Amino acid sequence: MELVEFTLERIQSLYENTVDHNLSDSGVHPYTMRELLTQQQIEEVLNVELGYGWTNGAPELRQSVANLYDNRSADEVIITNGSAEANILMVMSMLEAGDELVVVVPNYLQIWGFAKALGIIVREVPLREDTGWQPDMDELANVISPRTKMITICHPNNPTGSTLPRDSMDTLVAFARKHDLWLHADEVYKGSELDGVESPSFVDLYEKCIITSGLSKAIALPGLRIGWLVGPKDKIYKTWQSKDYTSITAGAVSEYIANIVVQPTKRAEILVRSRRILNENVALLSSWLDNNANLFSCILPKAGGMAFVRYSMDINSTELVHKLREDRSIMLLPGDVYGMDQFIRLGIGAPKSHIEQGLKHLSEYATSNF
Ligand SMILES: Cc1ncc(COP(=O)(O)O)c(C=O)c1O
Repeated sequence: MELVEFTLERIQSLYENTVDHNLSDSGVHPYTMRELLTQQQIEEVLNVELGYGWTNGAPELRQSVANLYDNRSADEVIITNGSAEANILMVMSMLEAGDELVVVVPNYLQIWGFAKALGIIVREVPLREDTGWQPDMDELANVISPRTKMITICHPNNPTGSTLPRDSMDTLVAFARKHDLWLHADEVYKGSELDGVESPSFVDLYEKCIITSGLSKAIALPGLRIGWLVGPKDKIYKTWQSKDYTSITAGAVSEYIANIVVQPTKRAEILVRSRRILNENVALLSSWLDNNANLFSCILPKAGGMAFVRYSMDINSTELVHKLREDRSIMLLPGDVYGMDQFIRLGIGAPKSHIEQGLKHLSEYATSNF
């Protein structure tokens, strides 16, 4: 099996912990256990038995996750190690070599790369900047063929932070239904919508949908490594069979804490914090863009912990990012990792002071060198 380098993750793995100001993350600044849990809950965690537990996830956690969706039972949910594992299990169990998969890009690109390695034929449909990073349904119609099995979309989107209005979600579902296609949505940013209006889940809109999600982004707990899949029972069972090969089970402590944070009141409290951090930082970014309009522009994100910023300087995005890292100890993500040079992805979930520093160094660098 030949995997193309997952450059987006590789560049972060190499450098994100070596800089003073890491602005390459796409989530919200994580909680500590002390900030997240009450003293009593911390005591309870100490009593968690460190066994394997249920390999598809503790029944009470699966039920709590099922409750986040319309009329779902615990058997329509599997718990995974991050949404990253959920995405891998989805590809392993839903697709096979020779199938065609339509990927709406730009996108996190994990599914894109893994599917290619399995011999699945990947077709791309772009989100267009000039329409606020929306897909064009005619372009979608042009790429499907009788061999197309699934459309996959990241919603809300990494890296643009765009969301689809409800009528566009319905149009996409109607398209999938008309052509009898599976729809997969990676919804790990759902809940971080800056206006506080959470998008519906695609799995509540379409019977042939399977979604992946988790606690790493909107919920600001990537270190728990908890994700999940929700979909039809038989498909979820298949993903469980794949999980026997990948990780067997998620961690017992993580599952225990996950079941606290997915309860509606706690989840709502966490999302208020996420949106507060993101909105403050978007305001900062917006005024910085106003002051640097000759060099930078951006369709401000509607959700998620990142902004996809276009720049006009004559420098390759990877080169720019390495220069900022080496000279200023700031880490951003180059648009190159999405095949989109002239963009940089800037994390907006980090503490405000990091964003301020990042933006300051970026504009100083740009104005003094170009
Ligand atoms: C869209 C998307 N899906 C999945 C992941 C993987 O996240 P995790 O495994 O931490 O849930 C990421 C990480 O950046 C992401 O952006």
